[in-house]
Amino acid sequence: MDNRPIGVFDSGLGGLTAVKQLMEKMPGERIVYFGDTGRVPYGTRSRETLIRYTGEAIDLLKSKNVKRILIACGTASTVLEAVGHDGLTPVSGVLYAASRAAVKATKNKKIGLIATARSIRSGEYERIIASLDPEVKVISKACPLLVPLIEAGRISLTDEVCRIVVGEYLEEIKAAGVDTLILGCTHYPIIRDVIDRAMDGNAVLIDAGAAAAEEVKELMTQEGTLSDGENAGAEFYVSDFPEGFATVGSMFLGQEIAGAVEKIDLPTRG
Ligand code: DGL
Repeated sequence: MDNRPIGVFDSGLGGLTAVKQLMEKMPGERIVYFGDTGRVPYGTRSRETLIRYTGEAIDLLKSKNVKRILIACGTASTVLEAVGHDGLTPVSGVLYAASRAAVKATKNKKIGLIATARSIRSGEYERIIASLDPEVKVISKACPLLVPLIEAGRISLTDEVCRIVVGEYLEEIKAAGVDTLILGCTHYPIIRDVIDRAMDGNAVLIDAGAAAAEEVKELMTQEGTLSDGENAGAEFYVSDFPEGFATVGSMFLGQEIAGAVEKIDLPTRG
């Protein structure tokens, strides 16, 4: 048993999709969440900048005495191996869990992948999927407009701009006849309904945050590090504009988080 919190981070709101799942799967845990709202989006950054930002977020969560860290950001997860850390606190990302779930789900071995420009450029999802099943064909599409749209709260099925943008991004993937679609950025489950409608309900949607939360639960169960429920709950930190985060975040999490969001300064890595 370990009553310390689980640290979770993302560039902004997207990681809340994983927090929601962690809370449902392990209601006794305490979550410390960090959203790097002052520097979102990560998906348009260079690899070097992304490595630095990810390292700084890991250092911040470690300073909160967490027992494990989930990088609930597809983009930051692509540099997990390149980010230096002391190895004392286990750190996992979303790529492997999401890829594994997609390979398990596909019947026709055609998987669609939508993610940020940096994630697609990294080729990491394709590399992991090929290692799991070399016969799977991956049709991928970078969707740089989706994170800013979601951060701005344009998330409803009735939002015409959101529907048009999603529809255009998914055209090629839909035409390729995929039966499984990886939502490779943790922001995307927030617009799951819009994505599902654009795919005419014909693809199994893989939520990267949910798959990663399941993996974290499995790992903690094996390690014997689940908590006894005494400190259950969540606290939220952001690098800028807590009010904006609280508004859309509460809407998404389905619970009021206004009082629990604090602005925090990040430790810097050279
Ligand atoms: N939620 C992040 C991801 O999973 C968004 C990255 C961004 O800020 O562009 O990739």
